[in-house]
Amino acid sequence: MFFSKKKQNEIDMSRLPEHIGVIMDGNGRWAKKRGLPRSAGHSAGADALKKIVTEANKLGIKYITVYAFSTENWKRPKEEVDYLMSLLLDYLRNAEKTLAGEDVVIRAIGSRKELSQEIRDQIVKTEEFTKNNKGIVMNIALNYGGREEITNAAKNICKEVQEGKIKIEDINDKMFSQYLYTENQPDVDLLIRTSGEQRLSNFMLWQVSYAEMWFTHKLWPDFKPADLHRAIIDFQNRGRRFGGV
Ligand code: IPE
Ligand code: IPE
Ligand code: MG
Repeated sequence: MFFSKKKQNEIDMSRLPEHIGVIMDGNGRWAKKRGLPRSAGHSAGADALKKIVTEANKLGIKYITVYAFSTENWKRPKEEVDYLMSLLLDYLRNAEKTLAGEDVVIRAIGSRKELSQEIRDQIVKTEEFTKNNKGIVMNIALNYGGREEITNAAKNICKEVQEGKIKIEDINDKMFSQYLYTENQPDVDLLIRTSGEQRLSNFMLWQVSYAEMWFTHKLWPDFKPADLHRAIIDFQNRGRRFGGV
């Protein structure tokens, strides 16, 4: 009895989620509570992110996808969008230093054409710089939208059908996945969203189809490695059936 109870409070290292998705929400409310500008919340959020990625990597998680900027976030005031873009640029630029020795592979997923040339160049550099690392793969969802990803995949498939490279009969869900930004990566097993909101907000619509969802009222800048542990333990205590019995 004692042992089985104890076990439920510890991570079972043999059954880790392979891919964790994180909707990092609540930066604005975190700042507001402190009488600070929203930008201060975003900056604190970037710090929280570094700690969480480091922890996930230490645990041996293989993939983490973090929602940094949605295709809908352009609706925000220009000042806030500019600030978020400059934070992301810094994050990518400093990846070399901040993730030094941590062996993280950094990738950006989302539509690049709306991003500034500076950010696009930096993405290429950072991806190139980290591509041979052996640790966790971190997808930064940047100008990412699940619907955009799926329609973009559909367009590319249509093009290949038109060019005679593939046949309509070849299209199935496995091959369709190969046209998404996450090609060759496993589906999301555990989806975490902070700040108390319980919605997807256009995040990884395809990849979360059988993900376990985990919500917390904590605001993203307050999310600590111990919270990640909690989410993983909860995940391990659920029964996943994938439609079976
Ligand atoms: C999440 O925090 C970060 C981004 C969406 C870029 P928010 O900025 O959405 O914070 P709230 O939801 O307004 O508190
Ligand atoms: C989702 O958060 C996007 C990111 C975390 C980057 P939002 O704050 O933009 O989502 P909604 O508007 O509450 O659905
Ligand atoms: Mg929000």
